[in-house]
Amino acid sequence: NAPMPTTHDDLRDLHDLPSYPKERDDYINPARALLTGPPISPLRFAGGSTGWLVTGYHEAREVLRDPRFSAERWRGDDAMRPVPESVRRDRSSGAGSFLAMDAPQHGHYRGQLTRYFTVRRMRELEARIEDIVADQLDALEAAGKPADLVRHFALPIPSLVICEMLGVPYEERELFQSVAARLLRQDRTDAEFVAGKTELDTFLRTLVEAKRKDPRDDLISLLTAVDELDDEEIGGIAGLLLIAGHETTTNMLSLGTFALLRDPEQLERLRADESLLPQAVEELLRYLSIVNAFPVRIALEDVVVGGVTVTAGQSVAVSVPAANRDPALVDDPDRLDVGRPRSSHLAFGYGIHQCLGQHLARIELVAGYRGLLRRFPGLRLAVPPEQVRMRSDMVIYGAHELPVTW
Ligand code: HEM
Repeated sequence: NAPMPTTHDDLRDLHDLPSYPKERDDYINPARALLTGPPISPLRFAGGSTGWLVTGYHEAREVLRDPRFSAERWRGDDAMRPVPESVRRDRSSGAGSFLAMDAPQHGHYRGQLTRYFTVRRMRELEARIEDIVADQLDALEAAGKPADLVRHFALPIPSLVICEMLGVPYEERELFQSVAARLLRQDRTDAEFVAGKTELDTFLRTLVEAKRKDPRDDLISLLTAVDELDDEEIGGIAGLLLIAGHETTTNMLSLGTFALLRDPEQLERLRADESLLPQAVEELLRYLSIVNAFPVRIALEDVVVGGVTVTAGQSVAVSVPAANRDPALVDDPDRLDVGRPRSSHLAFGYGIHQCLGQHLARIELVAGYRGLLRRFPGLRLAVPPEQVRMRSDMVIYGAHELPVTW
């Protein structure tokens, strides 16, 4: 295998880890190298204050399931990407967006949605998702060789799916795709955060008002019938789903394809036996772990984790990529093995915030990879692997573009 492009410098900036081993460049996700350290270690956050970085699998689960760790990121004085003061005071910007809420408020909102995201419900969407995949396979083919798999395949599929579910016009994708890209940048300023949020909130608020007057067969319309939710809250929920629902799956589709294309043996195993796809998807989720050094939690009181005391008010960043490469989770964690039995990986998080869209994401990924395997038996990279440009500036790890040919 050719070595993957690496992002040493970005990660060091983010984590300020002086001991980051520069010489190790044989991995697909930069956070893997952090495993060489202890399962929990001191970390300096962007604001300059000290918190903790968790890289151990068991320690990560401990933090994520413990209610003494808050997901309300503005509580701590040293969170990595704290919600700006101006946003906190302005309720309209945070209403409904339960990713950064604790119980019981978190459950109040999430509970309104769980029935729409069950495995059964998602199975009902499967045929429609396969149609969307087929359309994008056509689009990729029509783009001509070589084509960018991100632009013509990985980005449109999750965007189309989530737009359809919510009832957001796909023609408006420029707006939310660009807002998502801006909000998820690690180096964004508070002003950019507020501007992006406001743009999205205004757009969604107008949409919610329209659906309240003229309900359609979509999730936003269904939510307008819930007495406990006002328009602001529905807008907040829709914004969270829109942002969380496409960027992540996009990067899994493109990076997963990349990982397979640079590993012909694993690719051949999948081609020879498509029934491996569901477990291959789990393995790719574990191996790639695109949610990078996020979630962040804040200790509400002193808590002992992995033998160290996290003091009240301190932030803890959980490195999902590192936890998922901990030998405590699977044997030989650095090896991509599409036949590996499904593991209890943390790619979708753990605890009350575990990904609401995971069943949807799995269906999109299986349909997406299967579609590519079937339609393009000769699919290969159009550039050497080290020329694929990685997005290392984001909370979510991925490829800017993936030039392929067939
Ligand atoms: C939460 C990953 C796809 C909606 C999360 C979390 C992770 C994650 C790690 C937990 C964050 C935390 O604890 O702070 C992923 C990955 C995906 C994916 C890797 C794709 C492969 C989706 C999709 C949707 C979605 C398709 C949309 C429908 C959400 C929501 C939450 C969440 C709403 C917040 C849950 C809560 O706070 O209770 N996701 N996600 N995700 N995800 Fe996903």
